[in-house]
Amino acid sequence: MQTILVTGGAGFIGSNIVEALLKRDYRVIVLDDLSTGRLDTIDHFLHNPNFTFIRGSVLDRGLLRSIMKTYQVCGISHQAAIASVTKSILDPVSSVEANITGTTNIFDIAAESCCRRVVFASSCAVYGDGPESPKQEQMRLDPKSPYAVTKAAKEMLARTFCQLHAMEIIGLRYFNVYGRRQNPGSDYAAVVPAFITKALRNEPLPIEGDGLQTRDFVYIDDVVQANLLGLTAKNASGACINIGSGSSIGILELAHAVIRGSGSSSLIVHRPARPGDVRDSRADIERSRAILGYAPAYALDKGLAETVAWYRAREQKKPAQVAAAMQPVPVE
Ligand SMILES: NC(=O)c1ccc[n+]([C@@H]2O[C@H](COP(=O)([O-])OP(=O)(O)OC[C@H]3O[C@@H](n4cnc5c(N)ncnc54)[C@H](O)[C@@H]3O)[C@@H](O)[C@H]2O)c1
Repeated sequence: MQTILVTGGAGFIGSNIVEALLKRDYRVIVLDDLSTGRLDTIDHFLHNPNFTFIRGSVLDRGLLRSIMKTYQVCGISHQAAIASVTKSILDPVSSVEANITGTTNIFDIAAESCCRRVVFASSCAVYGDGPESPKQEQMRLDPKSPYAVTKAAKEMLARTFCQLHAMEIIGLRYFNVYGRRQNPGSDYAAVVPAFITKALRNEPLPIEGDGLQTRDFVYIDDVVQANLLGLTAKNASGACINIGSGSSIGILELAHAVIRGSGSSSLIVHRPARPGDVRDSRADIERSRAILGYAPAYALDKGLAETVAWYRAREQKKPAQVAAAMQPVPVE
């Protein structure tokens, strides 16, 4: 049985990758400091003998070494990051540390332990706010926030480690990911869970500016598919590729789709536009098709229907019991 380390595995995207790996009979180790991740995203895996949760940071090199050795890790899915543009502007040092130093630790300790394959989360933020659409991988990177700079830096580090250590590192530039287990409650909640939770309560949906700005929303199962393909793809070493749906939609249209899909009576309210907001963002996914065989299966209506159903069920459920999960699992 092969062992995969998922950093940030208690977060939105990481926990969904964990679930898919366990279904495919991998042994899965999660390393997460729970800074934004939550135990209720993984509590249902805790009784699976192939699953281990370790509370700790990718900044802890001793812990990383110990995990690689103890569990004979053969592949890493590196999702851990301070994943907020706003936080990176307020506290750039923490973002640079967690995202760049943390990623360097992952690459370095993987190289040292002979683990060749790392798939890591990059972001469409590396493209900046230029008008070109769709975004293609060969375009010049133009990061506009410390967060985006950290993602661009990870990509450069990845290429360097591939050259120096014959590693197979693949970067996935996620566009706007949505789906089950995304946190609607954080200060910097993404638009889809924020809209859905408000719509389910018939509260107004706030839109910044005219709502005609467009985004490429990609459903979580398509992102998981890309990660699984990345862990096994041949001839993809050093590639950094777009993971989106390949189409885009305006935020106003999205709000209407959520209201329709949830049977809500919410109104839409407009707020002042955010300065520097990207106008249009859409992924060209030809390269991910060619390199990974990636084929997104969720049009927005289908993904939104699944997501609304998940949040509706969650609103009706009692808080999960996670007491036993609080103990970190010791490693040698
Ligand atoms: N959600 C999106 O639309 C999106 C878009 C582009 C890129 N990304 C990237 O995808 C990855 C996952 O994002 P997400 O949306 O699941 O966010 P998330 O905040 O839900 O997940 C990040 C996880 O990393 C953990 N973490 C943070 N710092 C850590 C550290 N030092 N050591 C160990 N764990 C740490 C957090 O506790 C959390 O569980 C991130 O790298 C993010 O930058 C996400």
